[in-house]
Amino acid sequence: MCGIVGYIGNKNTKEILLEGLKELEYRGYDSAGIAVLQNGTFSNYKAVGKLVNLEEKTKDFTTKDFAVGIGHTRWATHGKPTELNAHPHLGESSYVVHNGIIENYAELKKELTQKGVVFLSQTDTEVIVHQFEKNLKTPLEPFEAFAKTIGELQGAYAILLVTKSQPETIYFAKHGSPMIVGINAENEKYFASSDTPLIGQCSDVHYFEDGDYGYVTPKEIAIFDKSGIKKQPLFKKLSTNKLSAQKEGYRFFMEKEIYEQSVVLADTLMGRISDKEIRFDELPHDLFEGVQEIKLCACGTSYHAALTASYLFERHAKIKTSVEIASEFRYREPIMSKDTLFVVISQSGETADTLETLKMAKEAGLKTLVICNVDNSSMVRLADAAILTRAGIEKGVASTKAFATQVAVFWMLSLYVAGERKSLPKEEIERQITLLREVPATVKVDDATHEQLKRLSKRYLHGHGFFFIGRDVFYPLALEGALKLKEISYLHAEGYPSGEMKHGPIALADPELFTIALLPQHMLYEKAKSNVEELSARDSTICAVSAVAFDKADDFIPIGVCKDYMLEFFEMMVVLQLLALEISIRLGNDVDMPRNLAKSVTVE
Ligand code: F6R
Repeated sequence: MCGIVGYIGNKNTKEILLEGLKELEYRGYDSAGIAVLQNGTFSNYKAVGKLVNLEEKTKDFTTKDFAVGIGHTRWATHGKPTELNAHPHLGESSYVVHNGIIENYAELKKELTQKGVVFLSQTDTEVIVHQFEKNLKTPLEPFEAFAKTIGELQGAYAILLVTKSQPETIYFAKHGSPMIVGINAENEKYFASSDTPLIGQCSDVHYFEDGDYGYVTPKEIAIFDKSGIKKQPLFKKLSTNKLSAQKEGYRFFMEKEIYEQSVVLADTLMGRISDKEIRFDELPHDLFEGVQEIKLCACGTSYHAALTASYLFERHAKIKTSVEIASEFRYREPIMSKDTLFVVISQSGETADTLETLKMAKEAGLKTLVICNVDNSSMVRLADAAILTRAGIEKGVASTKAFATQVAVFWMLSLYVAGERKSLPKEEIERQITLLREVPATVKVDDATHEQLKRLSKRYLHGHGFFFIGRDVFYPLALEGALKLKEISYLHAEGYPSGEMKHGPIALADPELFTIALLPQHMLYEKAKSNVEELSARDSTICAVSAVAFDKADDFIPIGVCKDYMLEFFEMMVVLQLLALEISIRLGNDVDMPRNLAKSVTVE
């Protein structure tokens, strides 16, 4: 999804902007651009595709001494990924970059067009700079014109604007899209839409709140809230640990992240499990008091983790649990009762739809909890309580280790609540704690399995589709396996509960339909097996994943013999991730940045 950087200072502005944009690359984008104002003159460069294209275009452009600059990576929403639609967008003498969506852009554009303004792009963003310049001419001081413009916008935005009429200033506004300003000892000022580009450049950062707008100069950071009242920045120390993931010999970040799962899962468990109990010191002690229902809300892979959690909460904590897709929940006028704990799950903590449901729950007076991988993200700052998943930065667009840590947190949380509500015998909680300790070893990639999947992948490059099937928690895992494959191989794949086959989908069965069957030894094995047999009888090509040999399978991927179905879950998760990875590599796709996808979906 789109990313923003900005800089005011004396260093090499071009390099700082490009380096900042590189740190945002993992979010997904299809074009990029920068605008630099130096000695009263603007330089602007844009390129479609990867940042190397922008680097190539700017190779003869140099900046030194004082300058202000803004940069952007764009993930197309309004208008195709073309150079004209790439940000920054130009008015007569100002440039703007923007994340989010301006919902009333069509009306504003119509009015501006009637006044003779010529638009160059198809974007919603371009109205911001023209509206600003219209207000500037009324006449207003640049900051007044900017403030008026912000008041005229509807929708979600993080905006930076630079103008020749105030050449040492960057104007900013934030509403519903993240934006941060950072400072350092050299009196430079940096902007970014997330922490990552600022690590190593800034010592302290301030996170803007929704409704904030203002300006930054070499001497001043002026912030106004939505009522126009000036407020002081609240600086926090920024981590100095770049954690800037390098591939470390792996072919793709996704592969590295699959292999890292053992380590990050150990981190996720650290300090949270003792022999007898689960501890979440970060949770208010009364969080579950009076809670009669848990509602989980998320998108995509995080939704699959939530669906897995719903089985665990009901099974362990004996608490009614429902799961919602955030984009649906937002608009279906849901009934929210105050005895419900509302839990959002998000790797990034910025997904627009999920964030909005969190706001809805807060407004309705529900207790809220977020399970998130990014500290200080919008959701973490908004929810009453937060559990961080500790997966580290995930660069591959297709989520792997974030999902693994989400499920581990939910497993622990279900036992934590079970302990509080005494819904499971102590011995059972202790048994499951010993199982949890085995998770990091369980997800270690087995070389032989990876080799087998590399070889096997060549048999699965064609056909008319994949069914991933499983029962109980292996159904959300099947959904996740299908999503992973779709995302990076562009092959059609669907996840189903195994028992649903005969209610329709089995009509598709033939040798060109590949069924990836999850057959855990410790969860409804016989029932799942007979569902697979039905598909095999109709000549679907079967690839079974199980610890138990299965003679009806065309291909068989063995997993280790585990003590419990949850350990089988984690082993099979790794198999499905590697299968998607190897098929995608064979197809020659860009595994880490698949087409049309973004890492952080900050528009609805
Ligand atoms: C898939 C994937 C997406 C995200 C979804 C929600 O690999 O990563 O489906 O899970 O966009 O994102 P978060 O978890 O950041 O809210």
